[in-house]
Amino acid sequence: MKVLVVGGGGREHALVWKIAQSKLVKKIYCAPGNAGIAKEAECVNIKANDIPNLLKFAKDAGIDVTVVGPEDPLVAGIVDRFQKEGLRIFGPRKPAANLEGSKAYSKMLMKSAGIPSARFKIVSELASAKDYVVSVGAPIVIKASGLAAGKGVFVAKTVEEAEAAVDTIMKERVFGVAGDSIIIEECLVGEEASLLAFMDGHTIYTLESSQDHKAAYDGDKGPNTGGMGAYSPAPVVTSRLMQQMERDIFVPVAHATNRDGCPYRGILYAGVMLTEEGPKVLEFNVRFGDPETQPIMMRLSSDVMEPILATMDASLGEVSLAWDPRPAVCVVMASGGYPGDYKKGDEITGIDEADALPDVKVFHAGTAMRGGKLVTNGGRVLGVTALGDTIAAAKARAYEAVELIKFEGAHYRTDIADKAIRRGAEGA
Ligand code: AMP
Ligand code: GLY
Repeated sequence: MKVLVVGGGGREHALVWKIAQSKLVKKIYCAPGNAGIAKEAECVNIKANDIPNLLKFAKDAGIDVTVVGPEDPLVAGIVDRFQKEGLRIFGPRKPAANLEGSKAYSKMLMKSAGIPSARFKIVSELASAKDYVVSVGAPIVIKASGLAAGKGVFVAKTVEEAEAAVDTIMKERVFGVAGDSIIIEECLVGEEASLLAFMDGHTIYTLESSQDHKAAYDGDKGPNTGGMGAYSPAPVVTSRLMQQMERDIFVPVAHATNRDGCPYRGILYAGVMLTEEGPKVLEFNVRFGDPETQPIMMRLSSDVMEPILATMDASLGEVSLAWDPRPAVCVVMASGGYPGDYKKGDEITGIDEADALPDVKVFHAGTAMRGGKLVTNGGRVLGVTALGDTIAAAKARAYEAVELIKFEGAHYRTDIADKAIRRGAEGA
């Protein structure tokens, strides 16, 4: 079959790389793709949110299945549009995609379905937001309700920081209409984990656990980013916790979305804080995580198209996923300045040497070819991913690869997976 992958980041490179290994797939296109994806798929110059042109391309090229990477087209209703034209596409329809598209909607669904989450208030007026912040005090979390590429969340340690965050979102409007309303939320304490599941409207099939590193700098310092690295599995997620999360988070979402007439079909990603009171949901994403998908696809040893097709056909109960037991670690190499302003167009060297190391795959995110040279073309540039017999070995291998890769201003965290390594050392 012919598959179209929509998107052009590290997650899409990992998906394309894995889909290319499927026996069911004859040809892969990716729109718009990037320089790394171009080596494994035919890239099509259509932006990921240009739904009319994606639709036209899918029809003209006779695409059998479209797999959507990023949230924007899902929230904008790409699945509804494709299905209306009789095309098969993987992802939730627009109403269900609102679980990510509107944090206000997501929090209300969690509240009504009894899903454990931080206490919150939704506010759409600057003055009342500030009054509320002052009345409850810090630490406190301020979030833009709409899509903000992972950057619309501020964990404020003081009331002043919280007020500044309210100004950033509501006065300076740096996230535009995404900041029309904000969520002011209790600050949860604990270790974070990501749990993803295929959901077909009947069956829930969880993937192996993973952990993202959202903060820009080592020690979880600095501003939040789209994700600076990830590993899988996350040892903090015991099998008991996994079952608890399936029961207390995924089952109620399936039930609530079925009841509301828009069954959730696709991948659901729960970002969870493992608190002393148990797991609590920080956010839902209606797609694969980035960068979690990079280590997860390295570890998936069965054909990724099987659960993708079964999710669309509501036959997930008939497939099973197989995993490489070895852990995988992904280190994101970003452009200097990210998540703030950054330069593009710097030459990247050393990728072939890094890729040649055993059990290493360099997934491209923001890369492009210019004048025959590979150059930086985004905030997150590469996701250098490695398998190892232990999480420490996977980390060492990933950083060995990172050190072979050079571009001006390259910035990466040096502590990816350390939480898991410490946990192992403690024997926890
Ligand atoms: P979100 O996009 O909502 O997952 O938020 C991004 C990051 O902000 C999360 O991964 C957490 O690190 C942090 N965060 C979000 N909500 C909270 C909360 N209620 N308490 C503590 N940290 C939070
Ligand atoms: N890794 C966080 C995200 O995909 O949103």
